[in-house]
Amino acid sequence: MAGREELDFTYSLIDRIFRLSLGEMADFSGAKFDGDFSLTLEEAQRRKHEYVAEMIGIGPERRLLDLGCGWGPLLGFNRERGGEGTGVTLSSAQLRSCLRHGLDVHLLDAREVDRETFGPFDAVASLGAFEHFCSPEDHEAGRQEEIYEGLFANVAEILPPGGRLYLQTMVFGPNAGEPIRGDVDAPRDSDAYFLGLMAHQFPGSFLPFGKEQVVRAAAPHLDLVESSSGRLDYIETIARWRRLFAEPSFKKTLLKARLVPRWLTNREFRLAFTSGVSANTVCFERQLLEHYRMVFERPTA
Ligand SMILES: C[S@@+](CC[C@H](N)C(=O)[O-])C[C@H]1O[C@@H](n2cnc3c(N)ncnc32)[C@H](O)[C@@H]1O
Repeated sequence: MAGREELDFTYSLIDRIFRLSLGEMADFSGAKFDGDFSLTLEEAQRRKHEYVAEMIGIGPERRLLDLGCGWGPLLGFNRERGGEGTGVTLSSAQLRSCLRHGLDVHLLDAREVDRETFGPFDAVASLGAFEHFCSPEDHEAGRQEEIYEGLFANVAEILPPGGRLYLQTMVFGPNAGEPIRGDVDAPRDSDAYFLGLMAHQFPGSFLPFGKEQVVRAAAPHLDLVESSSGRLDYIETIARWRRLFAEPSFKKTLLKARLVPRWLTNREFRLAFTSGVSANTVCFERQLLEHYRMVFERPTA
Protein backbone atom coordinates (compact mmCIF):
# COMPACT_ATOMS: atom_id res chain seq x y z
CA MET A 1 0.00 0.00 0.00
CA ALA A 2 1.10 3.59 -0.51
CA GLY A 3 1.78 4.79 3.05
CA ARG A 4 1.27 8.19 4.66
CA GLU A 5 4.65 9.50 3.56
CA GLU A 6 4.03 8.51 -0.05
CA LEU A 7 0.52 9.94 -0.09
CA ASP A 8 1.81 13.14 1.46
CA PHE A 9 4.33 13.27 -1.40
CA THR A 10 1.51 12.93 -3.95
CA TYR A 11 -1.21 15.04 -2.32
CA SER A 12 0.03 17.15 0.61
CA LEU A 13 3.20 18.67 -0.81
CA ILE A 14 1.35 20.67 -3.41
CA ASP A 15 -1.93 20.80 -1.47
CA ARG A 16 -2.33 24.57 -1.80
CA ILE A 17 -1.53 24.50 -5.50
CA PHE A 18 -4.22 21.82 -5.92
CA ARG A 19 -6.78 23.91 -4.02
CA LEU A 20 -5.88 27.16 -5.76
CA SER A 21 -6.22 25.40 -9.13
CA LEU A 22 -9.19 23.07 -8.64
CA GLY A 23 -11.08 24.75 -5.81
CA GLU A 24 -11.18 24.34 -2.03
CA MET A 25 -12.90 20.95 -2.23
CA ALA A 26 -10.73 19.92 -5.18
CA ASP A 27 -12.32 17.02 -7.02
CA PHE A 28 -9.38 14.87 -7.99
CA SER A 29 -10.85 11.88 -9.80
CA GLY A 30 -12.14 11.36 -13.33
CA ALA A 31 -15.26 13.37 -14.19
CA LYS A 32 -18.33 12.07 -16.04
CA PHE A 33 -18.65 13.82 -19.38
CA ASP A 34 -20.22 10.76 -21.02
CA GLY A 35 -18.37 11.87 -24.13
CA ASP A 36 -20.02 15.32 -24.15
CA PHE A 37 -16.97 17.57 -23.99
CA SER A 38 -19.08 20.71 -24.33
CA LEU A 39 -19.73 20.33 -20.58
CA THR A 40 -17.58 22.32 -18.18
CA LEU A 41 -15.40 20.31 -15.81
CA GLU A 42 -17.62 21.44 -12.96
CA GLU A 43 -20.73 20.15 -14.73
CA ALA A 44 -19.06 16.82 -15.47
CA GLN A 45 -17.95 16.43 -11.84
CA ARG A 46 -21.49 17.26 -10.75
CA ARG A 47 -22.83 14.66 -13.18
CA LYS A 48 -20.49 12.12 -11.58
CA HIS A 49 -21.81 12.91 -8.11
CA GLU A 50 -25.41 12.70 -9.31
CA TYR A 51 -24.67 9.32 -10.87
CA VAL A 52 -23.09 8.09 -7.62
CA ALA A 53 -26.13 9.36 -5.70
CA GLU A 54 -28.49 7.55 -8.03
CA MET A 55 -26.48 4.33 -7.92
CA ILE A 56 -25.88 3.98 -4.18
CA GLY A 57 -28.51 6.24 -2.64
CA ILE A 58 -27.40 9.54 -1.15
CA GLY A 59 -29.75 11.88 0.70
CA PRO A 60 -31.54 12.63 3.97
CA GLU A 61 -31.33 9.99 6.69
CA ARG A 62 -28.65 8.09 4.84
CA ARG A 63 -25.07 7.65 6.02
CA LEU A 64 -22.28 7.60 3.47
CA LEU A 65 -18.73 6.37 4.01
CA ASP A 66 -16.10 7.73 1.59
CA LEU A 67 -12.90 5.69 1.49
CA GLY A 68 -10.10 7.96 0.27
CA CYS A 69 -12.18 11.15 0.35
CA GLY A 70 -9.46 13.57 -0.80
CA TRP A 71 -10.44 17.20 -0.26
CA GLY A 72 -14.03 16.09 0.35
CA PRO A 73 -15.92 16.82 -2.91
CA LEU A 74 -18.32 13.88 -2.57
CA LEU A 75 -18.82 14.48 1.14
CA GLY A 76 -19.65 18.11 0.33
CA PHE A 77 -22.20 17.00 -2.28
CA ASN A 78 -23.64 14.48 0.19
CA ARG A 79 -24.05 17.23 2.79
CA GLU A 80 -25.82 19.45 0.24
CA ARG A 81 -28.23 16.58 -0.40
CA GLY A 82 -28.97 16.30 3.32
CA GLY A 83 -26.98 13.12 3.94
CA GLU A 84 -24.61 12.32 6.79
CA GLY A 85 -21.09 11.45 5.77
CA THR A 86 -17.74 10.24 7.08
CA GLY A 87 -14.50 10.05 5.16
CA VAL A 88 -10.97 8.76 5.55
CA THR A 89 -7.77 9.92 3.89
CA LEU A 90 -4.08 9.31 4.48
CA SER A 91 -3.05 12.83 3.46
CA SER A 92 -2.60 15.15 6.43
CA ALA A 93 -3.16 18.28 4.30
CA GLN A 94 -6.43 16.87 2.97
CA LEU A 95 -7.50 16.02 6.50
CA ARG A 96 -6.89 19.61 7.66
CA SER A 97 -8.71 21.01 4.67
CA CYS A 98 -11.76 18.74 5.19
CA LEU A 99 -11.91 19.61 8.89
CA ARG A 100 -11.78 23.32 8.02
CA HIS A 101 -14.90 22.72 5.93
CA GLY A 102 -16.69 21.01 8.77
CA LEU A 103 -16.56 17.52 7.26
CA ASP A 104 -16.28 14.41 9.42
CA VAL A 105 -12.94 13.10 8.14
CA HIS A 106 -10.29 10.94 9.80
CA LEU A 107 -6.66 10.13 9.08
CA LEU A 108 -7.06 6.39 8.71
CA ASP A 109 -6.12 3.59 6.36
CA ALA A 110 -9.24 2.81 4.34
CA ARG A 111 -8.32 -0.88 4.32
CA GLU A 112 -8.58 -0.99 8.10
CA VAL A 113 -12.06 0.51 8.30
CA ASP A 114 -14.60 -2.12 9.32
CA ARG A 115 -17.97 -2.15 11.08
CA GLU A 116 -16.26 -1.60 14.43
CA THR A 117 -14.60 1.65 13.30
CA PHE A 118 -17.59 3.93 12.72
CA GLY A 119 -20.54 1.51 12.79
CA PRO A 120 -22.72 0.60 9.79
CA PHE A 121 -23.35 2.81 6.74
CA ASP A 122 -26.12 2.82 4.15
CA ALA A 123 -23.72 3.35 1.27
CA VAL A 124 -19.97 3.34 0.61
CA ALA A 125 -18.00 5.15 -2.11
CA SER A 126 -14.36 5.16 -3.10
CA LEU A 127 -13.16 7.29 -5.99
CA GLY A 128 -9.58 7.32 -7.18
CA ALA A 129 -8.21 5.69 -4.02
CA PHE A 130 -8.24 1.96 -4.84
CA GLU A 131 -5.19 2.71 -7.02
CA HIS A 132 -3.19 3.21 -3.83
CA PHE A 133 -4.31 0.20 -1.80
CA CYS A 134 -1.68 -2.22 -3.15
CA SER A 135 2.04 -1.48 -3.59
CA PRO A 136 4.43 -3.00 -6.14
CA GLU A 137 5.96 -4.92 -3.21
CA ASP A 138 2.54 -6.27 -2.17
CA HIS A 139 2.01 -7.41 -5.73
CA GLU A 140 5.42 -9.10 -5.90
CA ALA A 141 4.74 -10.87 -2.61
CA GLY A 142 1.45 -12.22 -4.03
CA ARG A 143 -0.71 -10.19 -1.65
CA GLN A 144 -2.65 -8.09 -4.16
CA GLU A 145 -5.80 -10.20 -4.39
CA GLU A 146 -5.88 -10.71 -0.63
CA ILE A 147 -5.67 -6.94 -0.01
CA TYR A 148 -8.59 -6.24 -2.32
CA GLU A 149 -10.63 -9.10 -0.92
CA GLY A 150 -10.05 -7.84 2.63
CA LEU A 151 -11.35 -4.41 1.67
CA PHE A 152 -14.46 -5.85 0.03
CA ALA A 153 -15.11 -8.09 3.06
CA ASN A 154 -15.02 -5.02 5.32
CA VAL A 155 -17.30 -3.03 3.01
CA ALA A 156 -19.82 -5.88 2.88
CA GLU A 157 -19.84 -5.99 6.68
CA ILE A 158 -20.43 -2.24 6.86
CA LEU A 159 -23.36 -2.28 4.41
CA PRO A 160 -26.86 -3.68 4.99
CA PRO A 161 -28.06 -6.45 2.64
CA GLY A 162 -28.86 -4.72 -0.67
CA GLY A 163 -26.53 -1.82 0.25
CA ARG A 164 -24.17 -0.56 -2.43
CA LEU A 165 -20.56 0.43 -3.03
CA TYR A 166 -19.54 2.84 -5.81
CA LEU A 167 -15.95 2.18 -6.82
CA GLN A 168 -14.08 4.25 -9.37
CA THR A 169 -10.53 3.21 -10.19
CA MET A 170 -7.79 3.03 -12.76
CA VAL A 171 -6.63 -0.45 -13.71
CA PHE A 172 -3.87 -1.72 -15.97
CA GLY A 173 -5.21 -1.80 -19.52
CA PRO A 174 -5.07 -4.53 -22.17
CA ASN A 175 -1.74 -3.25 -23.58
CA ALA A 176 0.15 -2.97 -20.27
CA GLY A 177 1.77 -6.41 -20.64
CA GLU A 178 2.77 -8.71 -17.81
CA PRO A 179 5.00 -8.35 -15.93
CA ILE A 180 4.48 -4.59 -15.90
CA ARG A 181 7.70 -2.88 -16.96
CA GLY A 182 8.04 0.74 -15.94
CA ASP A 183 11.43 2.36 -16.45
CA VAL A 184 12.12 6.10 -16.55
CA ASP A 185 15.47 5.39 -18.18
CA ALA A 186 13.82 3.60 -21.11
CA PRO A 187 13.56 5.47 -24.47
CA ARG A 188 11.42 8.62 -24.08
CA ASP A 189 8.51 7.49 -26.22
CA SER A 190 8.31 3.90 -25.00
CA ASP A 191 5.44 2.37 -23.01
CA ALA A 192 7.97 1.46 -20.31
CA TYR A 193 8.98 5.13 -19.94
CA PHE A 194 5.41 6.31 -19.42
CA LEU A 195 4.60 3.48 -17.02
CA GLY A 196 7.82 4.39 -15.19
CA LEU A 197 6.72 8.02 -14.87
CA MET A 198 3.41 6.87 -13.43
CA ALA A 199 5.24 4.84 -10.80
CA HIS A 200 7.16 7.99 -9.77
CA GLN A 201 4.03 10.12 -9.65
CA PHE A 202 2.27 7.60 -7.46
CA PRO A 203 5.01 5.99 -5.37
CA GLY A 204 3.96 2.90 -3.43
CA SER A 205 0.96 2.33 -5.67
CA PHE A 206 0.20 -0.53 -8.04
CA LEU A 207 -2.97 -1.10 -10.06
CA PRO A 208 -5.33 -4.03 -10.43
CA PHE A 209 -5.00 -6.11 -13.60
CA GLY A 210 -8.14 -5.06 -15.40
CA LYS A 211 -11.65 -4.82 -14.10
CA GLU A 212 -11.65 -8.62 -13.89
CA GLN A 213 -9.28 -8.73 -10.94
CA VAL A 214 -11.43 -6.26 -9.01
CA VAL A 215 -14.65 -8.13 -9.74
CA ARG A 216 -13.03 -11.47 -8.82
CA ALA A 217 -11.78 -10.14 -5.49
CA ALA A 218 -15.19 -8.67 -4.68
CA ALA A 219 -17.18 -11.76 -5.74
CA PRO A 220 -17.16 -13.59 -2.37
CA HIS A 221 -18.74 -10.53 -0.74
CA LEU A 222 -20.33 -8.20 -3.30
CA ASP A 223 -22.05 -8.56 -6.68
CA LEU A 224 -21.21 -6.30 -9.59
CA VAL A 225 -24.40 -4.60 -10.77
CA GLU A 226 -23.06 -2.05 -13.24
CA SER A 227 -19.78 -0.98 -14.78
CA SER A 228 -18.58 1.36 -17.51
CA SER A 229 -15.26 2.60 -18.81
CA GLY A 230 -14.35 6.18 -17.94
CA ARG A 231 -11.09 6.14 -19.95
CA LEU A 232 -11.97 8.76 -22.58
CA ASP A 233 -13.66 10.98 -20.00
CA TYR A 234 -10.53 10.73 -17.88
CA ILE A 235 -8.32 11.91 -20.75
CA GLU A 236 -10.58 14.98 -21.04
CA THR A 237 -10.58 15.50 -17.26
CA ILE A 238 -6.78 15.54 -17.20
CA ALA A 239 -6.66 18.04 -20.09
CA ARG A 240 -8.99 20.35 -18.14
CA TRP A 241 -6.93 19.95 -14.95
CA ARG A 242 -3.74 20.80 -16.80
CA ARG A 243 -5.31 24.03 -18.05
CA LEU A 244 -6.44 24.95 -14.55
CA PHE A 245 -3.01 24.19 -13.06
CA ALA A 246 -1.36 26.33 -15.75
CA GLU A 247 -3.63 29.36 -15.17
CA PRO A 248 -1.41 32.20 -13.96
CA SER A 249 -1.74 33.20 -10.32
CA PHE A 250 0.57 35.21 -8.10
CA LYS A 251 -0.01 32.90 -5.13
CA LYS A 252 0.74 29.80 -7.17
CA THR A 253 3.92 31.35 -8.56
CA LEU A 254 5.09 32.04 -5.01
CA LEU A 255 4.27 28.49 -3.91
CA LYS A 256 6.04 27.04 -6.93
CA ALA A 257 9.09 29.24 -6.23
CA ARG A 258 9.30 27.71 -2.76
CA LEU A 259 9.53 24.27 -4.33
CA VAL A 260 12.55 25.17 -6.50
CA PRO A 261 15.17 23.89 -4.00
CA ARG A 262 13.37 20.56 -3.88
CA TRP A 263 13.17 20.53 -7.67
CA LEU A 264 16.92 21.11 -7.91
CA THR A 265 17.91 18.46 -5.40
CA ASN A 266 15.31 15.72 -5.75
CA ARG A 267 15.04 13.64 -8.93
CA GLU A 268 11.86 11.93 -7.68
CA PHE A 269 10.19 15.31 -7.37
CA ARG A 270 11.28 16.37 -10.87
CA LEU A 271 10.03 13.12 -12.37
CA ALA A 272 6.74 13.25 -10.51
CA PHE A 273 5.77 16.86 -11.10
CA THR A 274 7.73 18.38 -13.93
CA SER A 275 8.35 15.76 -16.61
CA GLY A 276 6.41 18.03 -18.99
CA VAL A 277 4.01 15.32 -20.19
CA SER A 278 0.94 13.80 -18.66
CA ALA A 279 1.99 10.18 -18.29
CA ASN A 280 -1.60 9.32 -17.35
CA THR A 281 -2.92 10.72 -20.63
CA VAL A 282 -0.42 8.82 -22.75
CA CYS A 283 -1.07 5.62 -20.78
CA PHE A 284 -4.83 5.98 -21.27
CA GLU A 285 -4.40 6.76 -24.98
CA ARG A 286 -2.23 3.67 -25.46
CA GLN A 287 -4.57 1.60 -23.29
CA LEU A 288 -1.75 0.79 -20.91
CA LEU A 289 -4.32 2.01 -18.40
CA GLU A 290 -8.09 1.72 -18.27
CA HIS A 291 -10.52 3.34 -15.91
CA TYR A 292 -13.77 1.94 -14.52
CA ARG A 293 -16.82 3.10 -12.67
CA MET A 294 -18.26 0.11 -10.86
CA VAL A 295 -21.32 -0.39 -8.72
CA PHE A 296 -21.37 -3.35 -6.31
CA GLU A 297 -24.18 -4.60 -4.10
CA ARG A 298 -24.22 -6.71 -0.97
CA PRO A 299 -26.40 -9.72 -1.76
CA THR A 300 -29.67 -9.92 0.15
CA ALA A 301 -29.37 -13.63 0.91
C1 LIG B 1 -6.91 10.72 -6.31
S1 LIG B 1 -7.37 11.15 -4.67
C2 LIG B 1 -9.12 11.06 -4.85
C3 LIG B 1 -9.81 11.85 -3.80
C4 LIG B 1 -11.34 11.92 -3.87
N1 LIG B 1 -11.94 10.63 -3.71
C5 LIG B 1 -11.83 12.60 -5.12
O1 LIG B 1 -12.58 11.98 -5.88
O2 LIG B 1 -11.49 13.78 -5.32
C6 LIG B 1 -6.95 9.66 -3.75
C7 LIG B 1 -7.30 9.70 -2.29
O3 LIG B 1 -7.13 8.40 -1.72
C8 LIG B 1 -6.55 8.53 -0.45
N2 LIG B 1 -5.96 7.24 -0.06
C9 LIG B 1 -5.09 6.51 -0.75
N3 LIG B 1 -4.79 5.37 -0.07
C10 LIG B 1 -5.48 5.43 1.08
C11 LIG B 1 -5.61 4.57 2.19
N4 LIG B 1 -4.95 3.41 2.27
N5 LIG B 1 -6.43 4.94 3.18
C12 LIG B 1 -7.12 6.12 3.13
N6 LIG B 1 -7.05 6.96 2.09
C13 LIG B 1 -6.24 6.62 1.08
C14 LIG B 1 -5.58 9.68 -0.61
O4 LIG B 1 -5.21 10.18 0.64
C15 LIG B 1 -6.46 10.62 -1.43
O5 LIG B 1 -7.33 11.29 -0.55
